[in-house]
Amino acid sequence: MAAPPVRIPMGASFFMAAMALITVMMMSSPCHAQLSSTFYDQTCPNALSTIRTSIRSAVSRERRMAASLIRLHFHDCFVQGCDASILLNGGGEKTVTQNNNSVRGYDVIDSAKSAVESICPGVVSCADIVAVAAREASAAVGGPSWTVKLGRRDSTTGNPSQAGADLPVFTDSLDTLISRFDKKGLNARDMVALSGAHTIGQARCLTFRGRIYGNGSDIDAGFASTRQRGCPSSSGDSNLAALDLVTPNSFDNNYFKNLMRKKGLLASDQVLYSGGSTDSIVSEYSRTPATFSSDFAAAMVKMGDIEPLTGSQGQVRKICSAVN
Ligand code: HEM
Repeated sequence: MAAPPVRIPMGASFFMAAMALITVMMMSSPCHAQLSSTFYDQTCPNALSTIRTSIRSAVSRERRMAASLIRLHFHDCFVQGCDASILLNGGGEKTVTQNNNSVRGYDVIDSAKSAVESICPGVVSCADIVAVAAREASAAVGGPSWTVKLGRRDSTTGNPSQAGADLPVFTDSLDTLISRFDKKGLNARDMVALSGAHTIGQARCLTFRGRIYGNGSDIDAGFASTRQRGCPSSSGDSNLAALDLVTPNSFDNNYFKNLMRKKGLLASDQVLYSGGSTDSIVSEYSRTPATFSSDFAAAMVKMGDIEPLTGSQGQVRKICSAVN
């Protein structure tokens, strides 16, 4: 005898079809969970305050570290996304030209990570620690603060060829800079705001020698001769000079005022104000520090969103310099 047909009410059949569709969609698309500022609220409620304490003490030991940590986040995010790939020993990124003997702060991230591991082992990723460290670094030297989105996971590999190809260099033209940032989803205004990080920190003589000895019309002569004193024409490659000659240790908008006086240290700084499409943004930030401050914060959040690994992608490293 045939079984009686099972009657499914209209509403229920619609519900079952919808559930089936959602299941298929979840199985077929890779996990693209959203980052969220509350990601560790349940799993490690003291993560952020622990990172803050660690970063504040590092910056109070050495103020330049604030600059180094902001840059570390930038150089992480521009290479296969904000995944802490730059931190891997043997990952190959640390030794590309743009990073070698230049990027700093690895030890500070390692200490913050071990402080966090001691309260919540295996929970907080190195990529998130780098993102939070950048925010704390900015706030510690009078710069803007912002809400950091969390939930990034760490890569298991570095990508030196992408690092070499994608990280900007000080000889880049304005068009090249714009297209490098565009490739990462950041527009020209984001790029100018983010370059304002050069309001703090230092650069080595080898990165600005060409500019200060170039006799170009885009450099203030007095500024060039001042900088030449600390950066000989054929030696002293690693001698340091402040990127912002006016207030090298405070996060403010003097960087933009310097550019308008032809006193940008790097050629890639000065091209932002050299008769091109970004002149008006530089001049706006030089006049209205509050706009620079809020644009910088928003652009840092946007940069922190570049291609994160989420969900079950990658891993949460136990130590930041090596895969588990
Ligand atoms: C627009 C393209 C950029 C170029 C070509 C560039 C290039 C450079 C160079 C050559 C140095 C000096 C490195 C050395 O001598 O060792 C430097 C330092 C620095 N950069 Fe950039 N940069 C760019 C954008 C950015 C962005 C977007 C940020 C952050 C959001 C940033 C943050 C910093 C900081 C804070 C320092 C000082 C680091 C320290 O003192 O340890 N830069 N940059």
